[in-house]
Amino acid sequence: APSPGDALPGMKFTAVTPNTEDALVIPEGYRQQVVIRWGDPVLPGAPEFDVANQTPEAQAGQFGFNNDFAGLIPVDGVPGHFYLVANLEYPTEPFMFTGYREGEPTEQQARIAMAAVGIAVVEVEAARGSGALKPVVGPRNQRLTASSPFRLTGPAAGSEFVRTSADPAGTTVLGTFANCSGGLTPWGTMLSGEENFNNYFANASKVTDQKAAERLARYSFDDDSDEHHWGRFDKRFDLAVEPNEANRFGYIVEVDPHDPKAVPVKHSSLGRCKHESANIHVVDSGPDEGTVVAYSGDDEKFEYIYKFVSSRRIKSGLSKTAREHNLRILDEGTLYVATFYGDSPDGSGRLPASGRFAGRGSWKPLLTTEADGSARSHVPGMSPAEVAVFTRLAADAVGATKMDRPEDIEPNPTTGKVYCALTNNSDRGTDGKPGIDAVNPRTENKSGQVIEITDDHTGTEFTWELLLVCGDPAAADTYYGGFDKTRVSPISCPDNLAFDPHGNLWISTDGNALGSNDGLFAVALEGDRRGETKQFLTVPVGAETCGPVISGDRVLVAVQHPGELDDHSADNPASHWPDGGNSRPRPAVVAVWREDGKAIGV
Ligand code: FEO
Ligand code: CA
Ligand code: CA
Ligand code: CA
Repeated sequence: APSPGDALPGMKFTAVTPNTEDALVIPEGYRQQVVIRWGDPVLPGAPEFDVANQTPEAQAGQFGFNNDFAGLIPVDGVPGHFYLVANLEYPTEPFMFTGYREGEPTEQQARIAMAAVGIAVVEVEAARGSGALKPVVGPRNQRLTASSPFRLTGPAAGSEFVRTSADPAGTTVLGTFANCSGGLTPWGTMLSGEENFNNYFANASKVTDQKAAERLARYSFDDDSDEHHWGRFDKRFDLAVEPNEANRFGYIVEVDPHDPKAVPVKHSSLGRCKHESANIHVVDSGPDEGTVVAYSGDDEKFEYIYKFVSSRRIKSGLSKTAREHNLRILDEGTLYVATFYGDSPDGSGRLPASGRFAGRGSWKPLLTTEADGSARSHVPGMSPAEVAVFTRLAADAVGATKMDRPEDIEPNPTTGKVYCALTNNSDRGTDGKPGIDAVNPRTENKSGQVIEITDDHTGTEFTWELLLVCGDPAAADTYYGGFDKTRVSPISCPDNLAFDPHGNLWISTDGNALGSNDGLFAVALEGDRRGETKQFLTVPVGAETCGPVISGDRVLVAVQHPGELDDHSADNPASHWPDGGNSRPRPAVVAVWREDGKAIGV
């Protein structure tokens, strides 16, 4: 293995070896602290966590369950203070409630679950002399749940597809859930992707209108997808009663931490799918300088990669005028979907001499939304509202490339290149399913790949290359950017992405197919160390690694669903992290920093 000193800046740490410990394992010379856990108070007046005495009211003021994306946004005018923004993706009821009966929540349990999901905005104070962060329970904090009001904007708003008995205007949606990954905007807000929203609605089979039923099926609604059974207690989650309620989820949500009273927004101009995240690139020179581009993936097998090019340019600063202007950036512009082609003579994308896969691609326009709110569909036979609400059908119609589950997609702030984690796809090439193609080159893909896109951002052409074809480095079908595979940490199932201040890519994993715990990895992108992959930490048994934030001072990770293994529950935990002893596991956000006070990995 290379000595730590050989690695690029940001990656000079001793790699953590794969393991199955019930602990957050970090490199030698680093320290860690749990910043906030499920149940910790967020809003003033919220009670301390009491596992035996949970209520919906308590949970609505506390940190929720299964933190995924995490970000830090500086609090304007308060040095050393940040808004910790976190997605609270989904409730795992058997881990939340002692004696939970599978598929049979009580009304109290369902209402606690509705309060446990959504988004948290928590002010945190950075400690002096360490990377620790201390939550401040105060008026800046927000807890958005399955009941909080959101304003729906863009071509879906007011359309026939989103009107319900409680909201005949079709503009005010109650709640956000299934918030997976996300992103921060340069104008100081948080974006959150509503992902597996089909898991919250009952009775898809009882929708009688054939067109509506087909559209629900295209978004994977069926009776078995109702994992949480909220429809038994709140009829808006019963598709037999409110078929349009489902069309009000699956959007990119924008939350403004600088204004806790502001109503958060769902932007339908970015389309509706199982959005994993959205991440922003701002064009920094040339005639398009200031133009904002948002990249987003649809995380399901054989779904697509999208981008939105705003017709509005960013205004700098946090003045009221600038913020009002910038909060409309994601409401005006054009939504595109990606098609990929291989460069090799046989079209496969495989360049045999080097082991690389590379090619070209194009962005196909789907929908343009104008400043006055009018919109144009680029898909024959579909109205603008149809494209905004049934975006998957629009992308099908233009022949977009069906990918191996697009997770996080994020532009590198150092180089502008765009990276997307394609996490895995066990169905690729199986009976009746699409076979391999240039950018999805393996059948029954268990470990996923990471694609690097060189995009001109505002235009419609790009080139691409696979950075990593993940899995066992000793296997012939893996590729680590051309780096010596005997000297890398094995990586499998890439999910959330982030960049360090040096331009290295950091990848957190979900579902390691190689038998060890999930973790967080740094990957070199440039020069002769391109593809070098080093594991920075591993998460406890059964957990997925989320977040992450990689700053000079600290690494922040969200530990999602610790202990979540088959045949385990709150009554029989596979993990006791983070509280230890006989405790049940609790999802939590953790800070990691260097004990000698120097920057991460230098
Ligand atoms: Fe919630 Fe795409 O992972
Ligand atoms: Ca994810
Ligand atoms: Ca990210
Ligand atoms: Ca995942």
